[in-house]
Amino acid sequence: MSSWPGIIAYYREHLKVDHRATPITLLEGNTPLIPAPRLAAEIAPGFDLFLKYEGLNPTGSFKDRGMTAAITQAAFEGARATICASTGNTAAAAAAYSSRAGMRCFVLVPEGKVAAGKIAGALAYGAEVIQIKGSFDDALTMVREISEKRPVALVNSLNPYRLEGQKTAAFEICDSLGRAPDWLCLPVGNAGNISAYWMGFCEYHANGKAAARPRMLGAQAAGAAPLVLGHPVENPETVATAIRIGRPARGEQALQAAEESNGRIIAVTDDEILTMWRRLAREGIFVEPASAAGVAGLAKESREGRLNLSGATVVAVVTGHGLKDPDAVIQRAPEMKIIPAEVEALDKLIG
Ligand code: F0G
Repeated sequence: MSSWPGIIAYYREHLKVDHRATPITLLEGNTPLIPAPRLAAEIAPGFDLFLKYEGLNPTGSFKDRGMTAAITQAAFEGARATICASTGNTAAAAAAYSSRAGMRCFVLVPEGKVAAGKIAGALAYGAEVIQIKGSFDDALTMVREISEKRPVALVNSLNPYRLEGQKTAAFEICDSLGRAPDWLCLPVGNAGNISAYWMGFCEYHANGKAAARPRMLGAQAAGAAPLVLGHPVENPETVATAIRIGRPARGEQALQAAEESNGRIIAVTDDEILTMWRRLAREGIFVEPASAAGVAGLAKESREGRLNLSGATVVAVVTGHGLKDPDAVIQRAPEMKIIPAEVEALDKLIG
C-alpha cells in the first residue's frame, strides 16, 4: 500500500487550491475515526458513536488541514510572511507550515490565556509570538487591518483556503464510514471548522460521493456563546481557552450551516466540558478541554430529551491533543505519591 500523501495530494480534485501549487505539507489528515461503544451506551441506547481524533495531526490539532492549504496557496502566490490571531492551535500550525515554506510567521495571542503546549509549539517552530493585552477578538481585528496594509498573508479562517483544507475531514469521515453520519458534533469557536465541515459534506453530497448530509450539532462554551445568545460577548471566559471567542469571524456561515442541516448550535457549561473531557481520557482519548465540547453537547442534548439517537450513526470531532494543555490536567489531578526507592514501600502502597 502506498503511503498517505497529505490532504492536498489526496483530495486535490476537490480543492480550490491552485492546481499548479506544490503542496507545503506535513502529511496531515487521514486521522482515525475511533468507535466509542461504551461511551455511546452511557449517552443513549442503540446508536453508534465515532470520534474523529484530530489531535493526531502533525502539530496536534485540526488546524493543520487548513494550514497546509492556506500556506500552499500563499507560497504559490509569492508570500514571504504570514500572520494570524490565535487562541493557540492556529498559531502552532501557522508556525510549522510557514517555517516549512521558508516564510516568517507572526502570531498574536491573548496574554496569559493560551495553553502551554501551544505556545511551546509556536515558539519551537520559529514563529514570532506576540502577546497582546486583549482578547482573541482584539487580536483578530488587529491582524485583519495589518494584513491589508502590509504584505503578510492572513491565515486565520477568514482565509478561504483554510476552509478548503478543513473540509477534507468531512470527506474522510464519509470515505471511512461509506456514508455521511446522521449527526456531526463539534466545538465552535471562531466558527471556521463547522463552516468547513458543512461545505465538505455538501460538496460530497453534490458529487454523489455521499447519499445524504448530516445534521450539525455545534457546541460553544456557555461563557463564550455568541451564536447561542445571538449577540457578541465582550468578555468571553471559559476553561476551554481554545474557544474563548466572543465575536466569531465565521458566525453567520456557522448559523447557516446549522439551519440548512436542520441542526443547531448550543451552549455547554465548563463543568459539562470538563466532565466529558475526563470521560474521554478514560476511553484512552486524551484531548484538550475545548475538544470535549462537541461530545459534551451530544450528551447534554440526549440527556435533556432533545435528541432521538436510536439507530443513528454519530461522529464527534475531537479537535486537539490533550498534551497541548498539560496544566489543565495537572491542576486538577490528585497529588502524586512519593515513596522511597524500596520494594517494601511499593508493596505497602499497592497492597
Ligand atoms: N477546538 C480547538 C482545539 C481549537 O483550537 C479551536 C479553535 C476550535 C475547536 C474551534 O474551531 O474556531 O473553527 O470554530 N481554535 C482557534 C485557534 C481559534 O486560534 O487555534 P473554530
